[in-house]
Amino acid sequence: PNLAFRISFLLYFLFFTGLVELITVTTPQKYVNVTKGGNVLLQCMFVSTEEETSSLTIQWEFDSSSAPAVGPEQCGVASSKCCMRFSDTFQICYYQSGKVAITSSYEGRLQPPFSPEISKNASITLSNMQQSDAGVYSCDIHNFPDVEGRSQANIIVNVFEKPSVPFCSVHGNVETGHPVTLTCHSEHGSPKPAYTWTRADAAQATKTLMLPQVCNSVSPATPTGVLKFSNVSQFEFGEYQCNASNVLGFEACTVELNPELGAGVIAGAVIGAILGCVLIALVVWFIVHTVKKQKYKAVNVAEFLGSQSGVRVLPGVRKLS
Ligand SMILES: *[C@@H]1O[C@H](CO)[C@@H](O)[C@H](O)[C@H]1NC(C)=O
Ligand SMILES: *[C@@H]1O[C@H](CO)[C@@H](O)[C@H](O)[C@H]1NC(C)=O
Ligand SMILES: *[C@@H]1O[C@H](CO)[C@@H](O)[C@H](O)[C@H]1NC(C)=O
Ligand SMILES: *[C@@H]1O[C@H](CO)[C@@H](O)[C@H](O)[C@H]1NC(C)=O
Repeated sequence: PNLAFRISFLLYFLFFTGLVELITVTTPQKYVNVTKGGNVLLQCMFVSTEEETSSLTIQWEFDSSSAPAVGPEQCGVASSKCCMRFSDTFQICYYQSGKVAITSSYEGRLQPPFSPEISKNASITLSNMQQSDAGVYSCDIHNFPDVEGRSQANIIVNVFEKPSVPFCSVHGNVETGHPVTLTCHSEHGSPKPAYTWTRADAAQATKTLMLPQVCNSVSPATPTGVLKFSNVSQFEFGEYQCNASNVLGFEACTVELNPELGAGVIAGAVIGAILGCVLIALVVWFIVHTVKKQKYKAVNVAEFLGSQSGVRVLPGVRKLS
């Protein structure tokens, strides 16, 4: 009875587990990080209980909509391409009976599986990876009649890029007591760079950021790159450096925070005032000149009319036909 029980248990086990789960597809790496321009091996292996592999099919698909938003290109100020999340799954490679079909846009940079019937290895290699290649890749394998089981496995690919040289700029009226903001932004970089600010001028020996909230030489790293002075003082005037960094590296830019801009505005105002005075002088001169001319004309007309008809016209009275 014991043996019979064991056999029946084994049969049940085979029926519910062994027989049902006929094909198993696995991806040893669930997450892969690649640098922009680099190559990536998307590993996918399978095990099939069916010995015959003549009807083996392998399909690789890519879904960019599930890309983790790591780059400013994808979710930054510069672009609105971001945040529009739509399902965008398409086939990039199809293998069947020793034949391979590669989607035209991937031709030349996709290395298809090599004799997967023997190696049970459906891995592909993608070269020259770009930000647009970040997303989920799925490996779908069928080996008829093995149609049940775990026939699909995914790999999430991140494409990393060093920050590009950031742009530093000053916003606001640089005058004592005014609020001033320094901004810093890298066009490219993935993961999104973190920005820190430091005093860059050698004159400031301590190189301390004169901010009430920062008693340190380096500002806390922010994802926005904004450094605010709510009430700028002369001690804060100087040169500032922004450092944009991520796991791949860093780039920096510097900016001058001083009232030269304010001086420029004052100079502009002075020049404007001078020009205004000149304009007023011109207008006054023109009016005076015109009035003089008209007086002269009127006198002439009066003299002429007087001589012609004897009608007396007082000098200075305009009588124009
Ligand atoms: C990929 O990068 C992310 C973010 O920097 C990190 O958390 C993860 O450990 C990396 N994975 C691999 C496999 O390098
Ligand atoms: C699968 O094939 C790729 C090349 O196509 C190779 O780099 C990789 O090491 C293979 N994986 C295994 C587990 O054999
Ligand atoms: C700015 O700072 C100066 C000197 O520290 C102070 O006298 C003034 O009241 C401040 N202005 C504002 C708007 O906080
Ligand atoms: C920028 O920040 C990175 C990471 O914190 C650091 O390694 C690097 O030395 C900094 N570069 C400059 C110029 O401050």
